[in-house]
Amino acid sequence: MNQDELKKAVGERSVDFIKSDSIVGLGTGSTVYYMIEELGRRYQAGEIKNIVGVSTSSRSQNQAEKLGIPMKDLNEVDHIDLTIDGADQIDKNFQGIKGGGAAHLLEKMVATNSHKNLWIVDQSKMADQLGSFPLPIEVIPFGCQKTFEILEKENLKPEFRLDDNGDRVLTHNKNYIIDLKNGVIEHPHILADWLDHQVGIVAHGLFLDIVNTVIVGYDDGPKVID
Ligand code: 5RP
Repeated sequence: MNQDELKKAVGERSVDFIKSDSIVGLGTGSTVYYMIEELGRRYQAGEIKNIVGVSTSSRSQNQAEKLGIPMKDLNEVDHIDLTIDGADQIDKNFQGIKGGGAAHLLEKMVATNSHKNLWIVDQSKMADQLGSFPLPIEVIPFGCQKTFEILEKENLKPEFRLDDNGDRVLTHNKNYIIDLKNGVIEHPHILADWLDHQVGIVAHGLFLDIVNTVIVGYDDGPKVID
């Protein structure tokens, strides 16, 4: 199976975890795309009833709305039962890096308001340690050069993320993304704590102690790991 087929397989398999009468967080990305398609299909077929979706990006919001899935804003729900999202890297302790799609601020808010979190990834995302995937940081534009210099001084090898035109990528909230390219993260909790305390950083892509279940796409089929 190629990578896209692995993503499709895990995306579709993850919909088995969505129960009728529940509030579902919808992540962002090319793997989640397949989950939302399958959720829409089962909802339209009446196999899953009475659900409400809470999205983490305009991409997922638009897709879900087109499929007729009832949607609410995070502010309008008192909890989320289950959020299904992709990830960019997952280590052997099930800590993760997210934000490859620049949506990690909204994803983290939805994830931390969810009773359960399920990640869906193809096998290439699994690693012993985090860090070979650059760590995304969302920073506010005001004073961003100062924020950049602080990251540089810590030897975190920051780089502004640019789009195809060479302009800085803008997030949903019109912030910038800086990717940290310093390689293996030996102590994710210490780094996360430090990043949490830097003024000007809105959110980093370390998602620690958040996920309950991971579905990994292998050539012989999706494997559920609790
Ligand atoms: C977006 C994310 C995505 O979940 C992550 O990038 C995985 O995406 P994909 O399923 O396309 O590989 O964190 O901010």
